[in-house]
Amino acid sequence: MQALRRKDILSLEEISAEEITLILETARSMREIMLRKIKKVPTLRGRAILNLFYEPSTRTKASFELAQKYMSADSVSVAGSSSSLVKGETLKDTVRNVEVMGVECVIMRHPVSGAAHYLARNINASVINAGDGMHEHPTQGLLDLFTILDKKGRLEKLKVVIVGDVRHSRVARSNIWGLQKMGAEVVIAGPPTLMPPDLEAFGVKAYDRVEEAVENADVVMALRLQKERQDCGLFPSLREYAEIYGLTEQRVANAKDDLLIMHPGPINRGVEISSSLADSPRSVVLDQVTGGVAVRMALFYLLLGGIKEE
Ligand code: CP
Repeated sequence: MQALRRKDILSLEEISAEEITLILETARSMREIMLRKIKKVPTLRGRAILNLFYEPSTRTKASFELAQKYMSADSVSVAGSSSSLVKGETLKDTVRNVEVMGVECVIMRHPVSGAAHYLARNINASVINAGDGMHEHPTQGLLDLFTILDKKGRLEKLKVVIVGDVRHSRVARSNIWGLQKMGAEVVIAGPPTLMPPDLEAFGVKAYDRVEEAVENADVVMALRLQKERQDCGLFPSLREYAEIYGLTEQRVANAKDDLLIMHPGPINRGVEISSSLADSPRSVVLDQVTGGVAVRMALFYLLLGGIKEE
């Protein structure tokens, strides 16, 4: 299998369609390993990986750690809140100290947009961005593409509607770049106050009415309201947001019959999506999570490869 010719995975804006295709094809092989009774291959034996999370995470952190275990890597996880960061150590010093212990790849989630790029410029180890502020969440974008491709058999010419707090969403940004590169049409919908100010840069059409946006859609992706990134009231109340923009069976009635319902998680049930829709047969929310492990295994395979040469 061909390797990726890059040190880091920082954003889908800077990854080519060919590279995305390679990652998604590799993830399909990795999923086969996950389906085995014994989920273990020696690919990363003797390779050390650091997971550095400065923000909370369930899915991303667990799936990176499981991918490392399934591939026999030696990994350590450090939470920002319990690291020497609280004693005043800089990010660069933190990672340089761990790098000299033999770490070859750093997975980092950080509240500041651009933090992963900064780290990648300053260390020799590979960096995988596990979400940087409002900028990007490239592995989430890849697992979303993997799920859509798996269910629909193609990405090209599909209509994908992203609904909700696009302005603060790194998931939306990675999906917009990735889906458009793979030939899908992406439209966004939500309150005007939650649309990105630099809309033209993304080349997507924005709708105020969800019902209009989802007309003839193949995929609808609900986003979590990023309350932690909003410094002022951008909509009247959660109840009103849910009434006008929350996804329900009725609100997606204009979409195609074989519509896929997606959400990156964590879900605020009854706010951005109703429980009945999130748990419906059209929902692929849990398939997204499974795909997340396969995609992250694929990235390790393609970035770090097999046994390191002496
Ligand atoms: N989708 C996602 O990033 O979930 P976590 O915050 O739980 O990792």
